[in-house]
Amino acid sequence: MRCSLQFIALLLSFYSSQGLQFNNIEEETEFVNANSKYGSLWPLPQKVNFSDVSFKLSSASFRIVDAKESSAGASCGLLQNAYRRYFDYIFEGSKKQWPGKSRRTGASELGELQVWITSTDSECDAYPSVSTDESYELNVDQPVAVLKAPKVWGALHGLETFSQLVFKDEFGSRNINATTVSDFPRFAHRGILLDTSRHFLPIKVILANLETMAMNKFNVFHWHIVDDPSFPYISKTFPQLSQKGAYHPYTHVYTPADVKMIIEFARLRGIRVIPEFDTPGHTLSWGRGQPDLLTPCYSGSSPSGTFGPVNPIVNTTYDFMTQFFKEISSVFPDTYVHLGGDEVDFTCWKSNPDIQAFMKQQGFGEDFTKLESFYIQRLLDIVGQTNKGYMIWQEVFDNGVKIKPDTVVHVWMGNGQQEEMHKVTAAGYTTILSAPWYLDYISYGQDWQNYYKVEPLNFDGTDKQKELVIGGEACLWGEYVDGTNLTPRLWPRASAVAERLWSAKDVRDLNDAYSRLSSHRCRMVERGIPAEPLFTSYCPHEYKGI
Ligand SMILES: *[C@@H]1O[C@H](CO)[C@@H](O)[C@H](O)[C@H]1NC(C)=O
Repeated sequence: MRCSLQFIALLLSFYSSQGLQFNNIEEETEFVNANSKYGSLWPLPQKVNFSDVSFKLSSASFRIVDAKESSAGASCGLLQNAYRRYFDYIFEGSKKQWPGKSRRTGASELGELQVWITSTDSECDAYPSVSTDESYELNVDQPVAVLKAPKVWGALHGLETFSQLVFKDEFGSRNINATTVSDFPRFAHRGILLDTSRHFLPIKVILANLETMAMNKFNVFHWHIVDDPSFPYISKTFPQLSQKGAYHPYTHVYTPADVKMIIEFARLRGIRVIPEFDTPGHTLSWGRGQPDLLTPCYSGSSPSGTFGPVNPIVNTTYDFMTQFFKEISSVFPDTYVHLGGDEVDFTCWKSNPDIQAFMKQQGFGEDFTKLESFYIQRLLDIVGQTNKGYMIWQEVFDNGVKIKPDTVVHVWMGNGQQEEMHKVTAAGYTTILSAPWYLDYISYGQDWQNYYKVEPLNFDGTDKQKELVIGGEACLWGEYVDGTNLTPRLWPRASAVAERLWSAKDVRDLNDAYSRLSSHRCRMVERGIPAEPLFTSYCPHEYKGI
């Protein structure tokens, strides 16, 4: 079970906050009638100006079109796909009006949103990356609304914002106020971790969550694809891994076509897919299809029949990893792969006489972190050869393994989190934060507020150190979630993290956030996402089931 330290920290904070429980509930009642001057925008753009002039949108005549000046044009499938998606969201459930029939025209109608990609390379066919330009400018006014972005990625965010500005009046017609928005994310890496090993997640569930991520301007899907319990990834090089390691070799697996589809679905929404293949711990399922990969554990002088972490002392391990990661680096287009490296249990290594002999020969003494580092070092060298960058959990850094300068260190332990952020950035490494955002821990009350109140740069360090913090991830580990409850457990709790990572640092007003997030949650529901309520409330359109 991951994160025992995290759990203790949580218990401590639970006990120390007992006295506040009732205060929180009183506070909550105040939120019920809160109204934001920003409507239902979520996450809040960097700059937004509303006017009181409002326009009508008619499904019969409203169009989202490429501006003539745009470098993308009709050939950009990504944009065409997004125009259709957002048109549908804007007019969701509205009565069908056909062009030419009883059109209400007049000065108060907005006929067009023009989308203009302003740089010469629109990146229409590229993959998003950590240095992607996601900025956009939106000007809603007569006669046409204009959305300008240097790259398609900003245009996607701008379309989402435009759709969020549209509201229904009492007769159900769509309206939008004259508005100007100038927007860009505060952090470049805004991720969601989903775990498909503890429970298999059907493709449909993953796609629905990618769709919801786009509604919240998240841009990284951290796919914790395999772990101890199961190995659902079908490897072309080593088909036995899923054949033997998946919960079921045909129904509980991701085929190469599935993986391709998920990556493309994510790309069309500006989302990177970073796979995690965690080693040397968390690998029991690997051992079923790849004999001799794991360390045989001993009881006394004979093998006990159980297995521990990856066996770091045999060459076959490194031959395997070389071939395996060669495949991974060609299947997943992102320039980063997450190599895990967390929570290695030394008990099995300690019990094995061959490992003991190796430790002696290498002069490691009794320090098994040295053996762990020995393994990780070789793995990093192997993956370094594939010209991918890598991300790793914080233990790899803590244990002093030599990592490439462009390594991203992922901070997850709640204990000493600020000190860790200080140390990682002082050593010059890029870092992302997950420690306060373990959404698998659930509790009574509005825990979104705790995620919302986090300030990622709240640690001791220079400006230069703080620039190394490129963002964070909300993690939903899979012990207690599968397709039945994942989506409502994740949303809108993860939305709180989305705004923290996108909006300006001083956007922290809980009342205003409550009002906007309640509306945003209802919007997700209206778009077919079973996002759970924040508190006592209702939505204009309640979730009707599937
Ligand atoms: C939009 O305009 C209407 C008047 O047409 C005004 O009542 C409302 O407050 C405006 N909304 C925002 C978010 O400014």
